[in-house]
Parts: sequence; structure tokens; C-alpha cells
Amino acid sequence: MGHTGEASFIPAAIVKPTSDLKPTHSAPSIPADSRGQGHYMLQEIQQQPEVIHTCLTTYLGESAACFLPPVLMALRDRLPVPLQEIHIIASGTSRHAGLVAQFWFEQLAGIPTRIRSGSAFLEAPFPLTPHTLTIGVTQSGETADTLQALALDQQRRAGRSPELQACLVGITNHANSSLAQQVDVLLPTLAGLEVGVAATKTFTSQLVVFYLVALMLAEQRLERDRFTPALTALQQLPTQVQQVLQQAPAIQSLATQWRDASHCILLGRGINRAIALEGALKLKETTYLHAEGYAAGEFMHGPIALLDERVPVIAIAPAGKTQAALLTNVQKAKSHGAPVIGIVTRDNANATERLFDTQIVLPAIDEILSPLLTVIPLQLLAYYIAVLRGLNVDRPRNITKTLV
Ligand code: M6R
Repeated sequence: MGHTGEASFIPAAIVKPTSDLKPTHSAPSIPADSRGQGHYMLQEIQQQPEVIHTCLTTYLGESAACFLPPVLMALRDRLPVPLQEIHIIASGTSRHAGLVAQFWFEQLAGIPTRIRSGSAFLEAPFPLTPHTLTIGVTQSGETADTLQALALDQQRRAGRSPELQACLVGITNHANSSLAQQVDVLLPTLAGLEVGVAATKTFTSQLVVFYLVALMLAEQRLERDRFTPALTALQQLPTQVQQVLQQAPAIQSLATQWRDASHCILLGRGINRAIALEGALKLKETTYLHAEGYAAGEFMHGPIALLDERVPVIAIAPAGKTQAALLTNVQKAKSHGAPVIGIVTRDNANATERLFDTQIVLPAIDEILSPLLTVIPLQLLAYYIAVLRGLNVDRPRNITKTLV
């Protein structure tokens, strides 16, 4: 049954139309402009440890001792019962966060999840399914096709039987945006204002919020001995992201090496396919380099013909279930002359050292959470190449960003 009415114990913070869930820590401050040495994009990349910490402590409380955060319990009580399907609508980088979430919702919580960009949903909406949660994700809360797609979903469900009623959740960085007016439940990402056109800290904070929702949905399914470590792993993220940021000099030198490249391929498997897509988007929009992200298995079926010694391949290869198959793909790419760059984790770095021409080593992390780390070097690589090319890194050509 779709949700009807508001249960009295739901904190006002989480119910429509707007959320006043505020960070328990102040949002990171942003300087008045980006002239001179600094760029917003770099600052925003560097703010990610603090942003993730703020997001976690706001949702979970300082101690994170609770099994399930109260705000997510409130959301849980508004969900269709039984929850049979999740639909995610988002565009650009927000869609990539949705792709990661799709993996979490299906693999952790066992809930079939579909994702479509707002524009594609308007052209071809998902079949009207019962007991469905629809999540709209937009950092600005103002992206027209995402909002129109959510409105379409709401309209087509209005007046239908209870099991077809809309249950709309919004994930946004702007709690007073148009999205907030449209949804039943708002989950703010609390990243502070993001000025750079390239979405960076809002992406990682979307992931944090999505992961908390996935854990909430998985609560019944996961044994406590898997649930509690999952929360503990989240607490380590700010420190781990900081450690990744310390790799900046290595990434800068990689950027120097590849500053004049015309093409670049990013490969990922499993949950990191979404990060291959996101890394490629960051490279395209900030450096104007032609970058493509692929599921590594699919790359073998045709696109591999693109490779030669001028086309670097970046493999997102943290230790985990998908690593062996990905390394086989990398070997194949290398055999066709492509320079290969690995984003690996400390626990597999020795084994991969001889395969990759260059590798960026991240802290060890469970593969399922690894997108929160693997995306950071790609953000930095895009930033440094754009700067080396003398481009306006905060305001790439042809793109506008809604700053509400
Ligand atoms: O505000 P939104 O998250 O809805 O924006 C969606 C896209 O326009 C946005 O993510 C765009 O792809 C970014 N510039 C990517 O960095």
C-alpha cells in the first residue's frame, strides 16, 4: 500500500515539503570568488572528508551507536508495504550516484531497482508498478527534466488504487529547492554550496545518503554481524578520503603525463562501472578530453578496437569480487599497446604493481563502499588536466549550473 497521511511520530525534519535537517557541524565555508590561485572545484574536492563527516554525524549522531538512525526509521515508516520496487530518476552525475545506489538496493537490500534519466523517463516511463518507491536525485533540486519526470510519475499514479500511489523521496543539496516542494520525504545531502560546475562533493554526499537508505532497507535482511560493521566502515570514510587526497601529487604527475591525450578509456566492473562513467563525465566536462567509461566486460565487445599507445586505459580495480576479471581485461588492453593506469587498494597493490604502468593506491576498503574512494582520484585527475590545459575549470564551456 502506498503511504497515506503522516504518522505522528515522524520527525518534522523529514516530512514534506521541506526538510530542516541541518548539519550538526557547520557546512564548509566557500570563499567569495575563485579568482587568483584557488579554484572552487579543488576546494570542493578537498572538502569531501568534512562533508562526509557532516553528513554522517547529522544523520547518525556523533556516536553512530544507534542500529538505525531515527530519521531513516521515519522514512521506513512511510514506505509502501511491502516495498517491491525502487525507481530512481536523475541526470548527469546524480544519475551516476543512482547507479551506485541501484547496486546497493539490489545487492544489499534485495529490492529490484530501475534507474532512468529524467529526459528518458519522460520519453519512456517505467511500467506502472505497485508498492514502488520513487527517488528523485538532483543536487540543485532544479533540474527540469528530473522534476518533470517526478511530476509525471505523481500524476499518473494519482487517483489509482492504494498500491499504486506515489511515494516520492527527494535527495538534494538544496532543501528549499523546487524538488523539496514536490516530494513526500526529503533527504538533504548537507554538502554546503557547490559552486564549481563539476559536481564533486555533492556526488559523494549523495552516495552517503543513498548508502544509509540502503542499510535501512537491508536492515531486515542483514544479520547484525554484517550491519554493525557496515556502519563502522562508514565512520572510517572521512579519514580514508583524506588519505586519498594525499595522493594528489601522484595524480598531478599523471595529469602532466596525459595532459595532451585526446582519448581516454575508463573501465570498471560491478559497482565501479558507475564510477567509470562518472570519471569519464568529469574528464569530459572539465578537460574537453574525449573520455568514455565502460563496464569492462562490455568493452571487450567492440570498443577495444579503439586502443593503441595513445589511448590510456584507467582501470578502477579495488580488491574484491570483480578484481580478477577486471585485471584480465587490463592485460588484454595492455597487449594491444594501451598504457594502463590502475586505481587499486592497498591490499592488492603489490599484486597489481607489475601489470599497471602507473597505479594510484587507495586505503583498503570493502568493494561495496569503494565508489566513495575510487571517484576521488578521477575528480583530481580531471581537475589537474583542466588546469594544465589552461581551461576555466570552475565554469566549463557550454554548461550552466543552477545555484539556488
Ligand atoms: O543538479 P543536478 O544534480 O540535477 O544536475 C544534473 C546534471 O546536470 C549534473 O550532474 C551535471 O552532469 C554536472 N555538471 C556533472 O558534474
